Amino acid sequence: MMHRSTALAAPEITGKEVLACAKAALNAPGYQLPVLPDMAIKLIELTRRPDTEIMHVVRLMEQDPLIAAKVLAVAQSAFFSRGARVTSLRDAVMRLGMEELGLLFFEITASVRIFRAPGFERYMGSLRRHSSMTAQLARLVCRQTSVMDEYAFMCALLHDVGIAAGAAAVGKGVPAEIAWPAILEVHGEIGAMLTQAWRLPADVTLVTQRHHSLGSDGFAHPVACAIAIAEWLASEQGFALDGETADARPEAELALLGVTESMLTQLGVDAAAIAQRMG
Ligand SMILES: [Fe+2]
Ligand SMILES: [Fe+2]
Repeated sequence: MMHRSTALAAPEITGKEVLACAKAALNAPGYQLPVLPDMAIKLIELTRRPDTEIMHVVRLMEQDPLIAAKVLAVAQSAFFSRGARVTSLRDAVMRLGMEELGLLFFEITASVRIFRAPGFERYMGSLRRHSSMTAQLARLVCRQTSVMDEYAFMCALLHDVGIAAGAAAVGKGVPAEIAWPAILEVHGEIGAMLTQAWRLPADVTLVTQRHHSLGSDGFAHPVACAIAIAEWLASEQGFALDGETADARPEAELALLGVTESMLTQLGVDAAAIAQRMG
């Protein structure tokens, strides 16, 4: 936590100081940065295996009753259930399919456990919306372009996770609106520290760290390109992150992934449908 005197001057904070707070928090004995439960990652792996039995997935989800209840509530919503009665996680698996439910579970886990920071509630709301929209769109971009999307959803959902960790580390010592630009400045670095600490696949760390410096040093990871396109589509639908300026159309990434104008038009239609569902 960052605590500063406000008696003489308005508190302020630099990106360097935010980074130092996050590093200290990550290394401090007993201090807990937001934790991504192993179980959420295990679940994603499990739901991808063709031989997985429904009961294994349900049993794993039941280990976190709070998240399981939220997953069930979302599965029961009109969009997902399409009028069918969904009364148990087993029903939800049957209705949505294991992979879809696994991703939904992961998204809700992130939203409940990670995208939280006292004092930054308004900003965290914007971060959750932006991250969820970007994750769903990145997956669609990968499907349209045949980019291997094994980790696309996870990478996209966590691409700005450094913001949540930075905000949690700064705490209430500095007003959110003052700390926010400094947090944005270093969120890639903090995100990389966090995903490494969580021992997520190296690709996730790479994309988290470099999603704002695509193209430099010849770096052009296909999933990072998909995220850049997804972020642009998200901002077109009003899902840009608070304080981030809307990017120009990502021409280089579109060309790299071979996204044609007609594919982009379809992605725009899909994005509008998802935006309407998310409200
Ligand atoms: Fe973002
Ligand atoms: Fe970002």
